[in-house]
Amino acid sequence: MSTHTTDSLDAEPLLQATELFKAFGLTEALDRASLSVTAGETVAVMGPSGSGKSTLLHCAAGIMKPDAGSVRYDGRELTTLSDGERSELRRTEFGFVFQFGQLVPELTCLENIALPLRLGGMRRKPAEAEAEHWLATFDVTDAAHKRPGDVSGGQTQRVAVARALVTTPRVIFADEPTGALDSLNGELVMRLLTQAARDSGAAIVLVTHEARVAAYADREVIVRDGRTKTGVLA
Ligand SMILES: Nc1ncnc2c1ncn2[C@@H]1O[C@H](COP(=O)(O)OP(=O)(O)O)[C@@H](O)[C@H]1O
Ligand SMILES: [Mg+2]
Repeated sequence: MSTHTTDSLDAEPLLQATELFKAFGLTEALDRASLSVTAGETVAVMGPSGSGKSTLLHCAAGIMKPDAGSVRYDGRELTTLSDGERSELRRTEFGFVFQFGQLVPELTCLENIALPLRLGGMRRKPAEAEAEHWLATFDVTDAAHKRPGDVSGGQTQRVAVARALVTTPRVIFADEPTGALDSLNGELVMRLLTQAARDSGAAIVLVTHEARVAAYADREVIVRDGRTKTGVLA
């Protein structure tokens, strides 16, 4: 597994979204929102439901194009890349964890974790060996040959975190990763996610509305009505 160097906290941001605007019809989801993350840093994006957290994450990760504003990642401007270039960058540099796993239901948990490697051109054997390593690390080996529909929510999320980490991304975007879990499973997923990110030097953009989850972050950004401000922990 490759590692990335962790810069000091005053280093240049690895990812910097500046003054983003995004409207859906008359709804102004983002109204001058900004977000920056340095290498290896975990930033919690907090705010009430509907405040624009997911939209900010989608724009920062190059999933969605903002109406205005800039998103710079490692010297590149994401908003001017083609769709193909952006999806290639997402596949190689970023990992994603969503609230409900969003695993491929037809594939086993093992195959789900191996999938990002297979899409990157790795052969089945080494990809599945790597997936097995993650299943063991996250203590979900017994889910290996089951489909996501046949394992618990907690196991599903651990598999989803493993899938996000398998390509050793430099930034992990997690949108309410514990939102569907009880507190015990939520804590476990957060511990595994933050530990694995620390081990590999990955940064995390962690969207949550739970203070207990945000406590895993180095820093908080608060979103309210599509605007961001720095949280109390900064
Ligand atoms: N695809 C969409 N179409 C229309 N409105 C949307 C869409 N996505 C988000 N919105 C609206 O934008 C606002 C911010 O949404 P969102 O970013 O999902 O907030 P949060 O993640 O904080 O709950 C909300 O008013 C929401 O209804
Ligand atoms: Mg959301």
